[in-house]
Amino acid sequence: MNLDPEIDARLQEFASAVDSAGWKLLQSAPEYEGLYRMIRYHLGWTEGSATARHAGGKKLRSTLTFLVAEAAGADWRCALPAATAMDLVHNFSLIHDDIEDASLLRRGRETVWARWGNAQAINAGDALLMVAYQALFDVEPRLGAGQAQGAYRRLAQACRELCEGQYLDLLWEGGPTVSIEQYFSMIGRKTAGLFQCAAELGALSAGAGLAREEAFGQFARSLGLAFQVADDILGVWSPEIETGKTAALDVANRKKALPATLALSGPDSPAQARLAELYALPRRLEPDETREAIGLLEKLEAREQARGFLEQLRSEALARLDEAAPGDAGAQIRALVGLALPVVQGASL
Ligand code: IPE
Ligand code: IPE
Ligand code: MG
Ligand code: MG
Repeated sequence: MNLDPEIDARLQEFASAVDSAGWKLLQSAPEYEGLYRMIRYHLGWTEGSATARHAGGKKLRSTLTFLVAEAAGADWRCALPAATAMDLVHNFSLIHDDIEDASLLRRGRETVWARWGNAQAINAGDALLMVAYQALFDVEPRLGAGQAQGAYRRLAQACRELCEGQYLDLLWEGGPTVSIEQYFSMIGRKTAGLFQCAAELGALSAGAGLAREEAFGQFARSLGLAFQVADDILGVWSPEIETGKTAALDVANRKKALPATLALSGPDSPAQARLAELYALPRRLEPDETREAIGLLEKLEAREQARGFLEQLRSEALARLDEAAPGDAGAQIRALVGLALPVVQGASL
């Protein structure tokens, strides 16, 4: 997507600030160099990857933290510890998510587990989660122990909920149909909670007070839900070259992503019955079965229906942003919403 050059420059400035702060925290004694090499590789800092745009991800969550701090009236730099923590936590969750989903590709590169094995990848993810907390500890000198403790609690709760969401995501693979409500409760935990936390920690870093923390948190929660819905649509219909992830992996894994959930919980039909059969298989789908399942999802109009949810959530997020009264930072936050929820040929995704 083409961004306004001014916004693009700001996003790059934010990304460099987060990467520099992370870099300092990820130094090590020579005997552990291998551990940090895996982490640096995942973060897109190793040779061959650092030059590619978005090699370290889009940095949506950390950017949200900075922009909310600014919207709440502070200089964005005050949110550096929180933004760094959000980016590192997010990256920890991706290292583990790739193991959990047996995914070979992330950001167009081999995943950590595919390169170094599950055991080392699990440990690298754990280390990154702890480094994220160390990044957040730097809020204390500015905010004082009481407010800082509030930040730690909030991040811990968001991480715990992320694992609860991931638990359901995995539990439901190949299992019975789930309701739309169950689906939204699952993605609320695995994805939207971290977006909400990112915004709340931005407002908290700015010393904005509880009411504004909550208002920005609610906006970010809706954005996070919309973001996962968009990711679920891309997870069926987008090629590897666009997402940097294996195409249609959600279908092969029989994930209860939104398109499948909509198709499986819709009115009975022969197409739905066949889809249910494929989604109930006790193993990953073969390529021909994956193609068949995508055909059935299309026949059952799951893509159009999922886009309807996306539009609804996008509007809800923008309305909540207005309620949070972002002032001059509003335009850049709306640009970030555009980056998170790409629009293709006039229609979203
Ligand atoms: C991927 O998030 C994980 C989901 C919640 C779908 P992003 O798409 O924000 O990942 P990167 O950091 O930009 O690669
Ligand atoms: C990711 O959801 C959620 C977390 C990492 C917590 P997905 O499994 O859809 O993420 P991608 O599509 O692999 O990035
Ligand atoms: Mg997953
Ligand atoms: Mg996905």
